Amino acid sequence: MIIFDKENRVFTLHTRSTTYQMKAGRHNVLLHTYYGPRVTEEDLSYLIRYADRGCSPNPPEAGDDRCFSLDTLPQEYSTCGVGDFRLPCVEFALPSGSSSADLRYAGYELRPGKYALEGLPAFFGGQEWETLVVLLEDAAARVRVELYYGVLEEQDLITRAVRVVNQGDQPLSLRRCASLCLDFQRSDLDLITFDGCHMMERCPARAPLRPGVQGVDSARGTSSHHHNPFVILCERETNEDYGLCYGAMLLYSGNFQAAAELSQYDSARLVMGINPWHFSFRLAPGECFTAPEAAMVCSPAGFGPMSRRFHRSIREHLIHDPMAGRRRPVLINNWEATYFDFDAGKLLEIARTAAPLGIELFVMDDGWFGGRCDDNRGLGDWWVNREKLPGGLEALAPQMEELGLGFGIWIEPEMVNEDSRLYREHPDWALKIPRRDPARCRNQLVLDFSRPEVRENVYGQLYPVLSSAPIRYVKWDMNRSLTDVWSAALPPERQGEVYHRYVLGVYEMLDRLRRDFPDVLIEGCCGGGGRFDGGMLYYTPQIWCSDNTDAIDRLRIQYGTSFCYPVSAMGAHVSVSPNEQTGRVTPLRTRGAVAMSGTFGYEMDLSKTTPEEREIIREQTAFFKEHYDLIQKGDYYRLTDPFREGPYTAWAHVSPDRRQALVTVVYGSVRAVQSFLTLRLKGLDPDARYRVSGEERSWSGSVLMNAGWPLPMTRGDYQSLQLYLEAE
Ligand code: DGJ
Repeated sequence: MIIFDKENRVFTLHTRSTTYQMKAGRHNVLLHTYYGPRVTEEDLSYLIRYADRGCSPNPPEAGDDRCFSLDTLPQEYSTCGVGDFRLPCVEFALPSGSSSADLRYAGYELRPGKYALEGLPAFFGGQEWETLVVLLEDAAARVRVELYYGVLEEQDLITRAVRVVNQGDQPLSLRRCASLCLDFQRSDLDLITFDGCHMMERCPARAPLRPGVQGVDSARGTSSHHHNPFVILCERETNEDYGLCYGAMLLYSGNFQAAAELSQYDSARLVMGINPWHFSFRLAPGECFTAPEAAMVCSPAGFGPMSRRFHRSIREHLIHDPMAGRRRPVLINNWEATYFDFDAGKLLEIARTAAPLGIELFVMDDGWFGGRCDDNRGLGDWWVNREKLPGGLEALAPQMEELGLGFGIWIEPEMVNEDSRLYREHPDWALKIPRRDPARCRNQLVLDFSRPEVRENVYGQLYPVLSSAPIRYVKWDMNRSLTDVWSAALPPERQGEVYHRYVLGVYEMLDRLRRDFPDVLIEGCCGGGGRFDGGMLYYTPQIWCSDNTDAIDRLRIQYGTSFCYPVSAMGAHVSVSPNEQTGRVTPLRTRGAVAMSGTFGYEMDLSKTTPEEREIIREQTAFFKEHYDLIQKGDYYRLTDPFREGPYTAWAHVSPDRRQALVTVVYGSVRAVQSFLTLRLKGLDPDARYRVSGEERSWSGSVLMNAGWPLPMTRGDYQSLQLYLEAE
């Protein structure tokens, strides 16, 4: 519910359990007054304190009032160069050469429904949303800034976006344009970021705010394996079930920055948006720039409810799922089974084993096109390699279908190898800086996706391939960071636009793919989880979580990922043991239990499995299908933290009506002497009585949640347990 109190010029955004408020204050400065647990209707600006602070300047309208300073007031969208020295949201390069920005309240608009952003991903929906647009103006710079707020009351979700319009008669540049600013009049907060590297993505890192600026960013052209565009600010005591926390996600797949500043007089500010590093966007008179959307959830009751709000909002209002209402297929991917060494015969051999095991889709990974016999060549040449696949996809896909398997393919449209026809014909289409030899990574270069003709060529190659056969699934991969970013198509003063235009180009092509092939399930991938963000999820309903398929490492990766992103978005596969990345030996049952807490699949040469293993796989796919809705659409509860060296990791999926639950427990390496372990469950109906799989009698939800469930002792490393609970 959005309420505007005209008399006090206060905007209050109520969600089911939170309240967000801003006020057009004195001198038309837009002040942030509150974000937290839901409160009654009040003008909360009484919380803002004014004092004459020595080094804090006063705007000219304040006259003799030395207590009014942009430097100390909580701002809704911070400016720079005119008195606020903290993290700015916006910075211009004005025709005069000045970079200052001074924004004042100029009006508002209330709209039913949810705003959309042209060319950019955004949460969507109908009348369950409300939109507020607050207008700000910089009279001297002749710039209008529109702040967009979308309120999804039921899920406590507030989205934000920003549009900047050049209202002057000369061009100007934007050097910084953040999507989200949150000012707190307190300093006792922790910042949690989700960090890592290739094969160990999104590990939570928590630290108290310290004076100055801290945060994470990406300058790799993707959101990156290294830091995720999702952060949490929380109180010191906040944990899964207790305490105040604020989650903030940016729906953007390129360079981003999430920075928190603890400033003088104990105030804190969080700013999130496109990374200002190497960013500058030129606006001709009348032109506008739209910053990517950000979304926030405040939870007064810990991380668990916050995550569940994000999960549901993402599932229902961000992901366009072509399978909507239907189960997504259990897949088999040939990458770890064959790498580049395959032909149609080998793929069909794996497929013939897969189909009777309950697997439903065959994904042919990298290596099927051009001269791609290894990772040094072929990218850019999107025609079928007839040596490997003599009949082409038009023969292979129907053969798969006859076996009862849908067929999907891998692509990496943004890349080119120098050893390719595309590169030989268009060497200037790769990102390269004049007179510099570009850095190679996996021996490939990045195509300049900011250029429409480059995208057109690649799409023009892919379209006939995708139309040539019944293709049900596409894995869109992207295997290197951007370097040498310079576009031959833009003048020097516009080179600061290339990173962003690249991302817009990727979005445009994904959108086209989605529209031209509406029934095709697209899985995002970026050397595993290097572009796992809300922006990609808008186009690709699932994303390959990590190139690390080791079930025990995956406990951590999937745990960290779950703070923002739902299980139904996390690509997860069972692979061989010993694992290809770690050499670790794990039971097949455990690998299955971990992978089915994602979008379930296999990535191994099934033709080499034993009859016993095939029986386990058959049981796993049947179990997954039976409990699909519970796992993929249920509420997710983290029961332990795998980063604390406990004896086991556990989580649960609980149906929204709390009638069913699936609890998964994965033990660590075995010990001769084991403690008596009791797992207390979460999310159940305290008054319902639950039957537990394998047991004769039932227990009440309150008993299972408070007294707990005795865990059996185990033999052998990394054993697991799946308990299915159903209310009587
Ligand atoms: C990186 C992906 O994450 C892998 O799953 C695989 O598709 C390879 N690329 C293929 O090159």
